[in-house]
Amino acid sequence: MASFSSILLLILLHVLMVFNVGDGSEMTSMDDDELLGLFEVMSSLLDDPTWAQEHPQPCTDTPWSGVQCELMAQDDGSQDYNPTIFHVTKIHIGNDILNPPCKPTASLSSRGLLKLPYLKTLSLFNCFNVTPVSLSSSLFENSCLSSLEHLALVSNPSLHGSIPSSLGHIQTLRVLSLSQNMFTGVIPQEICGLVNLQQLDLSYNHLTGSVPQEIGKLKSLTIFDLSYNMLGGQLPPSFGQLQSLQKLDLGSNNLTGRVPQEFGNLSRLVLFDTSHNFLSGPLPESLSGLKQLEYLVIQDNPINTGMPLFIGSLGRLKVLSFSRCGLMGPMLTSLSTLKNLTALSLDNNSLNGTVPSYIGSLPNLEQLNLSQNQLSGEIIVSQELINRIGMRFDIRGNNGLCIKNNTSREVKSCISSKSRTGGNKSSWGEQEEDECRNMNSNLYQSSWSPKNHGYEFRLGLDNMFLLLIFLLL
Ligand SMILES: *[C@@H]1O[C@H](CO)[C@@H](O)[C@H](O)[C@H]1NC(C)=O
Ligand SMILES: *[C@@H]1O[C@H](CO)[C@@H](O)[C@H](O)[C@H]1NC(C)=O
Ligand SMILES: *[C@@H]1O[C@H](CO)[C@@H](O)[C@H](O)[C@H]1NC(C)=O
Ligand SMILES: *[C@@H]1O[C@H](CO)[C@@H](O)[C@H](O)[C@H]1NC(C)=O
Ligand SMILES: *[C@@H]1O[C@H](CO)[C@@H](O)[C@H](O)[C@H]1NC(C)=O
Ligand SMILES: *[C@@H]1O[C@H](CO)[C@@H](O)[C@H](O)[C@H]1NC(C)=O
Ligand SMILES: *[C@@H]1O[C@H](CO)[C@@H](O)[C@H](O)[C@H]1NC(C)=O
Ligand SMILES: *[C@@H]1O[C@H](CO)[C@@H](O)[C@H](O)[C@H]1NC(C)=O
Ligand SMILES: *[C@@H]1O[C@H](CO)[C@@H](O)[C@H](O)[C@H]1NC(C)=O
Repeated sequence: MASFSSILLLILLHVLMVFNVGDGSEMTSMDDDELLGLFEVMSSLLDDPTWAQEHPQPCTDTPWSGVQCELMAQDDGSQDYNPTIFHVTKIHIGNDILNPPCKPTASLSSRGLLKLPYLKTLSLFNCFNVTPVSLSSSLFENSCLSSLEHLALVSNPSLHGSIPSSLGHIQTLRVLSLSQNMFTGVIPQEICGLVNLQQLDLSYNHLTGSVPQEIGKLKSLTIFDLSYNMLGGQLPPSFGQLQSLQKLDLGSNNLTGRVPQEFGNLSRLVLFDTSHNFLSGPLPESLSGLKQLEYLVIQDNPINTGMPLFIGSLGRLKVLSFSRCGLMGPMLTSLSTLKNLTALSLDNNSLNGTVPSYIGSLPNLEQLNLSQNQLSGEIIVSQELINRIGMRFDIRGNNGLCIKNNTSREVKSCISSKSRTGGNKSSWGEQEEDECRNMNSNLYQSSWSPKNHGYEFRLGLDNMFLLLIFLLL
């Protein structure tokens, strides 16, 4: 079957060559073998048996949007009168090109690709959907794809098997994205030899094993995404050598152990996401070195310490999430310096004590979740803050936390000494509870009743107090 179609291609190629000869010899040409390689690759992918006939000169007269060529000097040094030649440098197939992009039996022709030594970009999105396809090790061996800089095989539900270690041979690679496929097995150690790699995205696969110890060799890496796999083990300290790293997403894996000290060396890091793992605390104070950090997402790890002090020195932070991290003790008072903070999520921890007053004056805050803690006392909020945050303000599930509207004239404390220490629901008096309920229902209706002497209410007595501020509006 395969040989039959390649015989057809050969016949076609000969017809085309005869045609080309008649076309005039000054025409810039293409290597016959390379053209045949392109035809083979396209016929193995596309559901279009006439592609080769419709695009006999894909670099010149009959272009196709997913194929790009570049004019290069002939490298044989011959002094004939046609010193330049077209080479195929890019093959891209995705929904932007065709819909559906590939035939159900699509496969990757390694024999075809072997004939495309100038290919710099191979990107196949949503191409392998039905017939199982795996990456053969030979695809990256014997100087096959030896010019490749950008390999993106993304969103291919039938692309499975392991990531071949021979990928490590392609030293020219700058971008490697194998996201949203069905890859299993480990991340081959050989990947760490790709010293020119700037972006590595292996997210949304089923990779197991641990992150290779030598990951620090990828010195040019700026974007590194391993999220949504099943990677376990500890984080290698060599991560600290990735000094160019700007985005590191390790979320939704099975990582354990502590974040190593060396992570504090990642001075260019803008995003650090380790959410949904099994990382334990304490987090190293060296993380205060992440001066460019804007997104710190630790959510859902058993950190089980107090709030880390280094957070206060991350002046560029925009998003901070420590939800479900087992944080205990008081809220940090030093967050007032985080003027750019837009989202603060500390929900479902064991934080206790009062809420520091700076919370009400963080100028850019748009989302605040302090729910499910043991916070008490009052939060002073302005009408302006309420307008800004609206329904993204959640302080439910805190025993004895009150909201105080700082624009109202009369303010009455609703904190009982019992609530500060006890945090036991039944330690609240019935009367106080009723008072809060009344205030609450007034607030639901957005109506002011003089009988309540102010806009404040207690939070967290059972579930009956729904405390999203949007209900106030
Ligand atoms: C990852 O952790 C989950 C939850 O603990 C567990 O069910 C699963 O087996 C783990 N997977 C691997 C590959 O370790
Ligand atoms: C990386 O971090 C470690 C521990 O924090 C430190 O000893 C080392 O000097 C740092 N290396 C570089 C290159 O900054
Ligand atoms: C806060 O954000 C603004 C606008 O994005 C930026 O110009 C400023 O440098 C940031 N502040 C800090 C401390 O990073
Ligand atoms: C809080 O976290 C616990 C586990 O740590 C979980 O069982 C519970 O559902 C969470 N509560 C909420 C309201 O998300
Ligand atoms: C907070 O909880 C810790 C125990 O986790 C306790 O020692 C401390 O007294 C509590 N602080 C307040 C203000 O309730
Ligand atoms: C109310 O809060 C706003 C903003 O947080 C602040 O500027 C103002 O001074 C406060 N007013 C009073 C009376 O506390
Ligand atoms: C706040 O966190 C709780 C518990 O983690 C969650 O159930 C709730 O949906 C969050 N609230 C908002 C407004 O996001
Ligand atoms: C806060 O008080 C001001 C002035 O009394 C009032 O206009 C505003 O509606 C109040 N806001 C809330 C949420 O109670
Ligand atoms: C709350 O306090 C009451 C009486 O002081 C006690 O009987 C009850 O067990 C306490 N509940 C909890 C959850 O600590």
